[in-house]
Amino acid sequence: MTDTDIKKGLAGVVVDYTGVSKVNPDTNSLLYRGYPVQELAATQSCEAVAHLLWTGELPTDEQLATLRETERENRALQPDVKAAIDLIPLDAHPMDEVRTAVSVIGARETRGTLNVMDAVGTPQQNLERSIRLFGELPAIVAYGQRRRRGLEPVDARDDLDYAANFLWLTFGEEADEVVVDAFNRSMILYAEHSFNASTFTARVITSTLSDLYSAVVGAIGALKGPLHGGANEAVLHIFDEIGSAENVSAWLDTALAEKRKIMGFGHRVYKRGDSRVPTMKAALDTLVAHYDRPDVAALYDALESEFVARKGIYPNLDYPSGPAYNLIGFDTLTFTPLFVAARVVGWTAHIMEQQSSNALIRPLSAYNGADERHIEGYVPDTSAIDVQERPEEAAE
Ligand code: COA
Repeated sequence: MTDTDIKKGLAGVVVDYTGVSKVNPDTNSLLYRGYPVQELAATQSCEAVAHLLWTGELPTDEQLATLRETERENRALQPDVKAAIDLIPLDAHPMDEVRTAVSVIGARETRGTLNVMDAVGTPQQNLERSIRLFGELPAIVAYGQRRRRGLEPVDARDDLDYAANFLWLTFGEEADEVVVDAFNRSMILYAEHSFNASTFTARVITSTLSDLYSAVVGAIGALKGPLHGGANEAVLHIFDEIGSAENVSAWLDTALAEKRKIMGFGHRVYKRGDSRVPTMKAALDTLVAHYDRPDVAALYDALESEFVARKGIYPNLDYPSGPAYNLIGFDTLTFTPLFVAARVVGWTAHIMEQQSSNALIRPLSAYNGADERHIEGYVPDTSAIDVQERPEEAAE
């Protein structure tokens, strides 16, 4: 085994097939089940895209109505979930609330499956679990923001579509159409992105035949990291640090001298621009106009052009979505939970795909620790089974 045999970070390793989405860095395109994501964001609702990702096809009117009915039936903040969230300190990160909430939902939804083989569920059960979880998450994310602001939760509205209801649950007032549209687009753009770190985490957990909720909880843990989902929050921290467009150059001099990572830029797969950015930037532009905040656009443009010119590294989706969520009124801490609410669709689509063609995911490692050594004075019991003869790693 040589250093070149080791694919650190699994970079460049193709681990399986997927029919859920295709990321093509050469053509800067992202397809969900064959459809370009920008076409879906311009024409479809979050619910329709969820149906597409889960089942492979856009819904008929009747299928969309059925999905919406189930999603609406599950919109309420459930007492078990609220009680669990209320136990979490207000200065804990809201991703901890979302992770805990999904864990509580999982225990509720799989209760009675004391034989672990039963919790995995049938394909139909897992599709229903996915729709219900998708329906339940907005109230959880919204409550996280509201309780930090000292506000009570508001009741869900079943006369509003998913995106409009999400904004209602968060702000307690109906959002303008242009805001709902921008938010809907962002949720579609965040819904799926092939074998990213959190989705791969979900697939690894699923591959052990664990249940859908355990896989989503693990995915939430992976998404919390600033090299993944946490980047949209970090973009806002950077904007706060810089202050305004005229400070960009000096700020960047210092940041690059300190070898800082500029959050919201760069991507493991896309090296010439993230396919989702133009659509999200257009949504941000509509919000800038709606809220009359040209200063936000000026800072955005200044940092992008200066960083691209100096390093040749392009923005990723988190770069336009961070300021967009800020303009809508979401607290910076809520950005990654919003990502969870959107990405749960992709995660669950991949979980179901993994279940349909499973192989335990278990890579190998090259050992570079201490040479074999022994406890001083230890005398092996020669009458015991010789452990050297056990099949390697059989006890895992
Ligand atoms: N700021 C500063 N430098 C960056 C950078 C960034 N955002 N992204 C990449 N680079 C640098 C790397 O440090 C590396 O420098 P080196 O050759 O001197 O070591 C070089 O550019 C090439 O990096 P690359 O191999 O393209 O990146 P990666 O695949 O290892 O990492 C990310 C990809 C996403 C982890 C990385 O770009 C990053 O940390 N971005 C910021 C976080 C972020 O926005 N995440 C959201 C992703 S959707």
